[in-house]
Amino acid sequence: MDTNKRPDTMERITTKELADKFIAEQIANVKAQVGDKKVLLALSGGVDSSVVAALLIKAIGKQLVCVHVNHGLMRKGESENVIEVFRNQLDANLIYVDATDRFLGLLEGVSDPESKRKIIGGEFIKVFDEEAAKLEGIEFLAQGTIYPDILESIKAKESGKPVKSHHNVGGLPEDMKMELVEPVKLLFKDEVRVVGEALGLPHAMVYRQPFPGPGLGVRCLGAITRDRLHALREADAILRDEFDKCGLAKTVWQYFISVPDMKSVGVRDEKRYEGWPAIIRAVNTTDAMTATIEEIPYEILHKITNRITTEVEGINRVLLDLTPKPTGTIEWE
Ligand code: XMP
Repeated sequence: MDTNKRPDTMERITTKELADKFIAEQIANVKAQVGDKKVLLALSGGVDSSVVAALLIKAIGKQLVCVHVNHGLMRKGESENVIEVFRNQLDANLIYVDATDRFLGLLEGVSDPESKRKIIGGEFIKVFDEEAAKLEGIEFLAQGTIYPDILESIKAKESGKPVKSHHNVGGLPEDMKMELVEPVKLLFKDEVRVVGEALGLPHAMVYRQPFPGPGLGVRCLGAITRDRLHALREADAILRDEFDKCGLAKTVWQYFISVPDMKSVGVRDEKRYEGWPAIIRAVNTTDAMTATIEEIPYEILHKITNRITTEVEGINRVLLDLTPKPTGTIEWE
């Protein structure tokens, strides 16, 4: 039997009852697969790896070792949230690695988008690998693979090249000789979310919008600097806060800020004030292959603009990106 093929008879998980049944089955499967051995998981804080972590904590408790690598390109509060939920609330065996300086050091002066992606992806695997090497007796590697990942990799193999070299936090280093544990690999995203809620994960974590593996690294456009990255993170937090307050967070698939490496002349406190522009992008899509622009009421745009330009050091303008995909990709880099 091809274990990477979803059986035609498999029922879609749409309710808590179905999710509970799935969870019970997977707990039994995982226990049978790993016995009393240890399992390693790269916990990015994204929906898929978080659901896998919560499921494995239920199945094997402290035999699961989670590693959260903060590459310094997370959104505001995200790494702290991973620690709060998994270490403090779920009592997970969690190793937290703050590798900010390492990543930002390597990225210094690098402006080419593909080079940035390769550095972030490659370094991520290195850091993860180093942490794994410090641990003893790990025989399994858990991954938050979901069914679209399997379908996409089949398609990519058949049809050649992707547009961007996507990096997924937790990519499997080729020389790691560990058996895989992939309890949600036959599920679609909406089903993973139902399972996540049934496992008791916070709603905000389960419904977290998609966030690229290279994180804010592909939104701090051009060569990354700490001050511009900080401004981007703060502006993005304001956008997310306002989208939460007005309800757009529930209807818009992905919304974020990018900050380019350019300054314009502005005025603040009656003085010349040179600053970067913050670019808002809000899109809807079903498969991320094409995307449409989501309307944002002007009243909300004014509020966001006002907050960003007064609260964030270094930003003096706010722009709105109205480009669908194609011709723009969702991310700017
Ligand atoms: P693009 O920019 O290619 O993005 O239109 C499509 C979707 O993919 C996300 N994205 C990534 N996701 N690793 C990921 O896991 C990556 O390297 C990556 N790059 C882009 C992007 O945010 C959008 O949702």
